[in-house]
Amino acid sequence: MPDPTSPKNLSAATLSVWGGEEESLMQGATQVPVVYSAAFGYPYVDAWLEVALGRRPGHIYSRNTNPTVRAFETKVRLLEGAPAATSFASGMAAISDTLFTLLSPGDRIVSVKDTYGGTNKLFQEFLPRFNIRVDLCDTTDHDEIEAAIARGCRVVYLESPTNPTLKVMDISRLAAAGHRAGATVVADNTFATPINQNPLALGADLVVHSATKFLGGHADALGGVVCGDAERVQRIYHFREITGAALDPMAAFLLIRGMKTLHLRIQQQNESALSIARWLEGHPAVAAVFYPGLESHPHHDIARRQMRGYGGVLSFMLKGGFEAVKRVLPELRLARRAANLGSVETVVGPPATTSHVECSAAEREAMGIPEGLIRYSVGIEDIRDLMADLSRALESA
Ligand SMILES: Cc1ncc(COP(=O)(O)O)c(C=O)c1O
Repeated sequence: MPDPTSPKNLSAATLSVWGGEEESLMQGATQVPVVYSAAFGYPYVDAWLEVALGRRPGHIYSRNTNPTVRAFETKVRLLEGAPAATSFASGMAAISDTLFTLLSPGDRIVSVKDTYGGTNKLFQEFLPRFNIRVDLCDTTDHDEIEAAIARGCRVVYLESPTNPTLKVMDISRLAAAGHRAGATVVADNTFATPINQNPLALGADLVVHSATKFLGGHADALGGVVCGDAERVQRIYHFREITGAALDPMAAFLLIRGMKTLHLRIQQQNESALSIARWLEGHPAVAAVFYPGLESHPHHDIARRQMRGYGGVLSFMLKGGFEAVKRVLPELRLARRAANLGSVETVVGPPATTSHVECSAAEREAMGIPEGLIRYSVGIEDIRDLMADLSRALESA
């Protein structure tokens, strides 16, 4: 009889709680301990060597591996259905280490115009300095993206839904196009989370997360992670162990603790975001609402196919433009005005101070990111309270 408690037979709700912890528990602890030890000691050189050569489980030095950090990596990889994972000090460390591992001078990468601002900076400012050609397509034009991929590339980089305009990319279609061109396909799953979407099951080779957001869920720890096949993840791990952007054990502990409620939080945030998006669509002060769960979303059909829920972030534009945004945001009582998202508290902000703070107004315009947008990351508060707060704040629009 198949083992009902084997990770492959457990649901995401159970894996969020139990996944990956067993190996790192010690001395009867029921929670993964924070192991603050820079290095791990061995009385005999032979045993030490076995661990150093990877022939026996164990740890050598916390820049490479650490028990608390390992538990976090295992939990995420089980949720993403991946054989391997490695973690980082932040989401941007995960993304940049992944790209610098996969790409070499002379290579080409295909992605889209409105990825998260930090990722876009990597594309525009850093990769070209290493003679890596970057082709950024219109995010919504799948024919254009496919044609760019077919011209040949080493990496296809996807983000879906995108930050902050909530565009949706067809991961299966673009992964297949990437594989026809011999490329490695990377997908940023930060907005969807593994509860709503599994890019590896849709054909991507690697999935990256800013764990700072929904995975941790409490806006108290930075972290990043990449999951995929053992060979690619080993290469990325090696780049990270040498370049050093390791996840701190305390941050790993906070992320593990946050992830215990991942499934519950995401269910609530999916539900609340959809209700708020629907309500905002009919509000007289609102010019447009962007949320993949809305029937009016241009790629709602793709979202419905590849997502189990539509996520906790929506964005909307006010008829009064950026001036109205500046009037409305200070009126909100149940929202942090901050450059984060995915937390238990509702968090709001315009792209100029959040996702695309590193970009100039002209750069945001070129990426199709409207200045008058409000990104609204729904927390786990009572939906009636959130709507009452928004409703009152919108009176000053
Ligand atoms: C979609 C997405 N990817 C990556 C990042 C970068 O993550 P971090 O801030 O943890 O470096 C962010 C941050 O906002 C993001 O929204």
